[in-house]
Amino acid sequence: MARQSTSPTQRILKRPRRLRAGEAIRSLVRETVVRVDDLILPMFVSEKIATRTPVASMPGVFQFTVEEAAAEAALAAGEGIRSILLFGIPSAKDEQASQAYAPEGIVQRAVRAIKKAAPGLVVITDVCLCEYMSHGHCGIAELEGGSVHVLNDESLELLAKTAVSHAAAGADIVAPSDMMDGRVRAIRTALDDAGFQRTIIMSYAAKFASAFYGPFRDAAESAPQAGDRKSYQMDGANVLEALREVALDIEESADIVMVKPGLPYLDVLWRVKERFGMTTAVYNVSGEYAMVKAAAQNGWLDERATVLEMMTSFKRAGADLIATYWAREIAGWLGNSPPTRLMERPRGEGGNHQDTKG
Ligand code: PBG
Repeated sequence: MARQSTSPTQRILKRPRRLRAGEAIRSLVRETVVRVDDLILPMFVSEKIATRTPVASMPGVFQFTVEEAAAEAALAAGEGIRSILLFGIPSAKDEQASQAYAPEGIVQRAVRAIKKAAPGLVVITDVCLCEYMSHGHCGIAELEGGSVHVLNDESLELLAKTAVSHAAAGADIVAPSDMMDGRVRAIRTALDDAGFQRTIIMSYAAKFASAFYGPFRDAAESAPQAGDRKSYQMDGANVLEALREVALDIEESADIVMVKPGLPYLDVLWRVKERFGMTTAVYNVSGEYAMVKAAAQNGWLDERATVLEMMTSFKRAGADLIATYWAREIAGWLGNSPPTRLMERPRGEGGNHQDTKG
């Protein structure tokens, strides 16, 4: 006697697994795609070195000389990278960050060299003073009885001067990461007054005071000598405040807003994108890089799979652009061979030409 179809299994009509059966169907229904076009490659250029120097806490990341940075940028462009984000390490620091806006400063020279070596590459410059200040803070600082005050309005003028000098050197996008109040307006006004209406502002709009920046401060030699950045970078517990910060930067005319760090702040990214619908970038920061690299080097994680999953998460959470130290590796991993069409085949390769024989 035939069995009655009463087992619970046979009542399942909806089977999500149907769409997961093989890679072909999975790729047909895939919702989120990571594109090399969306990646920004951060690069460090230093005035203090004679040749490229590895960053110990970020395996695979280097400080470059100006000449090397130009060559690297051209190589990256050849691999499909569209954009780089430049950080400079000056040979001299002072309390006015004067090398940040010097016409022959390290970033200004690097931008000109990179623009020459790779004219099509979008060059973004980090606009911040921490690498150029002897005390390592992101603005003008005052020491008062052992505690550090970072002065807001006094710092704006230096930030604006820095942004204008980057634009004058040829930067396409300036990216203020200092977190002073009012900097986007100050920078926009200064750029426009100097004739740089077309220079784009990508603001680090929701930038949190984060332990994940640790390795970067080795790379950029920018750790604060005293105190921390919590009086200007955001408290990691606050998402409503992040939305207010982003709203202010948009009002002040930011063209692109950024959330930073990435992985621990995906909810912030999502809410920023949902709320404002702006072109939104995320920064996959140095600590996120270092931890995966370290695990991969120990054989504890599959680097390629982990990184691609991270990038997919950023896109899924709303990122249009992703700044990541893995940009070049990802370009290699995702590299598609160009399509070949039958009609374009050269004669004598078979295909349609058999009928001409015998
Ligand atoms: C400069 C700046 C920092 C980063 C980008 N711009 C460091 C900081 O704020 O201390 C961090 C990038 C990274 O960790 O990869 N203010």
